[in-house]
Amino acid sequence: MICLLYRAAGPSGGKDEGVRAVTVKPGVANSLSLAEDQPEPAPEEGAVLVEALAVGICGTDHEIIAGDYGEAPPGADRLVIGHESLGRVLEDPSGTLQPGDLVAGIVRHPDPVPCTNCAVGEWDMCRNGQYTEHGIKALPGFARDRWRIEPEFAVQLDPVLAQVGVLLEPTSVVAKAWDHIERIGHRAEWRPQTVLVTGAGPIGLLAALLGTQRGLTVHVLDRATDGPKPELVAGLGATYHAVPVNDLPFEPDVVIECTGAPTVVLDVMCKAAPTGIVCLAGVSSGGRSIDFDAGALNRALVLENNVVFGSVNANRRHWTMAAQALARADQVWLSSLITRRVPVNRYADAYTAGPDDIKVVLEFAS
Ligand code: BGC
Repeated sequence: MICLLYRAAGPSGGKDEGVRAVTVKPGVANSLSLAEDQPEPAPEEGAVLVEALAVGICGTDHEIIAGDYGEAPPGADRLVIGHESLGRVLEDPSGTLQPGDLVAGIVRHPDPVPCTNCAVGEWDMCRNGQYTEHGIKALPGFARDRWRIEPEFAVQLDPVLAQVGVLLEPTSVVAKAWDHIERIGHRAEWRPQTVLVTGAGPIGLLAALLGTQRGLTVHVLDRATDGPKPELVAGLGATYHAVPVNDLPFEPDVVIECTGAPTVVLDVMCKAAPTGIVCLAGVSSGGRSIDFDAGALNRALVLENNVVFGSVNANRRHWTMAAQALARADQVWLSSLITRRVPVNRYADAYTAGPDDIKVVLEFAS
């Protein structure tokens, strides 16, 4: 089926068909539209030409569509969105990739200065904010029929991931979170047992998957009492909780907070076990203030040697870890994270959130 898809594109890569692209005008609410007959991606965008198979949709896309986030490339007034990609290589003159290879594009590119971290390929830790991101900040995204990328920003996926490889980008984000948790953990003897993940959306569920792959006891907490979340958590061999954090009968060694909800963020900081590590991976919208005792929190963190840190994005090393984690995961479980697959001509449906959505995917080739 997939090989047929590739052949259908033909030696011209389907280049005579016109490129469709999902775009927005950054800063303008509800400017989402599907542009037809767009030009082919410019050669300057990269040597590797890719036929899009799918893009995943996340909260960042919704923020961009609401006009709250996002930046068009220099000189343009519209941004092609889509940063969670899956495609098939049509051509790579550099010979790094072969036609037909399954790939995803790395989202972030280093700042041009570059800062000390970007200079060594750790663009996920950019220090000056001048990084760019496909589909988010000053670089065109992947929600178009064909896109280009430089080989060093293309990540090859195992062919087994043809149906679910679009989950690679969110998995790279949690692979980084786990990588940094482990680096911090090794400041002392590191034998974690219990993990709490708050939020059972795609990021939370993928964070839980990587926890179970490490042989840890994983608990996932979310507000939902029905819908697909409890079963998805059970499918990992993890335990689902729909209670307040304070009612949990254990103190986790590791917390990965994926809701960004202010009270949950504070509660997990207080709930972590002595020497526990709390990774904040949920982006809050801000603007809501709550009363809390900062002194008591400081006292608890200091006296128990706890660490709280933020984590966003991922560098190439994390994308590779993520590709390996997905390839060894249960493919049926991964497929069940994708609760809706919408063809690109019905793009507006894809970007309208549904009550039981986990991951919604916009499909290009069919
Ligand atoms: C993406 C990250 C990106 C972040 C901030 C997230 O949705 O997954 O790659 O760095 O948004 O733009």
